[in-house]
Amino acid sequence: MAEESYLAANGVSFPTMKMDTMFSGQEGDMYCIHGHAGNISRRAILNSLKKITDQRLECQQPISIADFGTADGRASLSLVNEMIDIIQTDLRKEQAVIIYYNDQPMSDFNLLSKVIHGNEESAGLSINNSIYPVMIPRTMYEQCLPDNSLDLAISSVATHYLSKKVCHIKNGICMGTADDTEQGLMREQGIEDWRNFVISRGRELKPGGFLITMNISSNDIGETCLPIDKGVPHFASFWSDMKKEGLITQDEYIATNFNSHYMRTPADFAEPFSSDIPEVMGLGLELVSLRSVKHYLQKPVFQIGNKDDNEKLEYSRETVAMIYPWMHHVLYGGLSKKRTEEEKERIIDKFFSRLQMYAFEHSAHKPYLIFTEVIVKKCQRHDVK
Ligand SMILES: C[S@@+](CC[C@H](N)C(=O)[O-])C[C@H]1O[C@@H](n2cnc3c(N)ncnc32)[C@H](O)[C@@H]1O
Repeated sequence: MAEESYLAANGVSFPTMKMDTMFSGQEGDMYCIHGHAGNISRRAILNSLKKITDQRLECQQPISIADFGTADGRASLSLVNEMIDIIQTDLRKEQAVIIYYNDQPMSDFNLLSKVIHGNEESAGLSINNSIYPVMIPRTMYEQCLPDNSLDLAISSVATHYLSKKVCHIKNGICMGTADDTEQGLMREQGIEDWRNFVISRGRELKPGGFLITMNISSNDIGETCLPIDKGVPHFASFWSDMKKEGLITQDEYIATNFNSHYMRTPADFAEPFSSDIPEVMGLGLELVSLRSVKHYLQKPVFQIGNKDDNEKLEYSRETVAMIYPWMHHVLYGGLSKKRTEEEKERIIDKFFSRLQMYAFEHSAHKPYLIFTEVIVKKCQRHDVK
């Protein structure tokens, strides 16, 4: 059914789904996506911080914390402020704290800077004379800080991004629709990336330091994220429909890839430890815990059972707001450079209109994400077996 007749049939009018591409600084963005999933690890992060400060009572050196794949820094902001408060209460008021913010070099570090400094709505980072925010525009799959310099590393909803594109997915745009060979290549890259991430953090951490990550994944019973009824592969199929209808070309379809391994299992996260990799053992890294979490998104409209048309409309808008920030650049990246910007945005708008319609019609679904929390400790030399 064409978009227009669909709207008429349902007696609703959709606003043009025009939004900014990535982290705009407006209400929405990452909060819409996962409700700041890093906070699911709050207890584990604060417990680890307590162990770190307990060891540091007599030491004047700065405490250093890093957030890898931080985006605009808002997701971790309240937790980082809470950590600063705890450190300066438990140790001393003037205790120096360095906060490292890492993301890819092309990320919007201006926006991060604005978030750190705050505005009328948000006070930003609790900066006083002893707080030092530092930005690190560099891939998190490499060592980003000197050996033995970091107390606590955190990361949420970032490690599913692969460090490089290893194949063109022929029959779809995401891993769930990749064939066996393509999936195999993505899995192999996933293993290498996760090892590199763990080893890099292992080098950076001081003995006694912790790495705590909340990762998009599958779980032990094979569930994967379902942000929408039938999940990512289903709504990605709207792009195939648009190819069949001639709205995009075959080359554009092939060039569109969501370069992400969102299906790692808890065992995959344990792999650097279960495979007895010499560097992991040599660094004294210990896997403290692995925990799978099924996280239902908290927006009020997602909780309502029988929805009327207005609630369905709100549900459909929230669904698009949740998917748009990480899907827009995937679609945009596939479109031919010969197209004008208006053409590209018109095509992408069409995709999101279809997504919104689908969400409207399947609004009984309660969106959830599957995460695996991984906690790693770098043992003190005398603890290493
Ligand atoms: C879904 S966002 C999550 C942001 C934030 N941590 C949160 O919890 O909302 C994923 C972030 O990972 C970043 N990212 C992806 N690949 C990366 C890499 N190789 N190195 C550093 N950051 C990366 C992306 O740029 C993006 O900002």
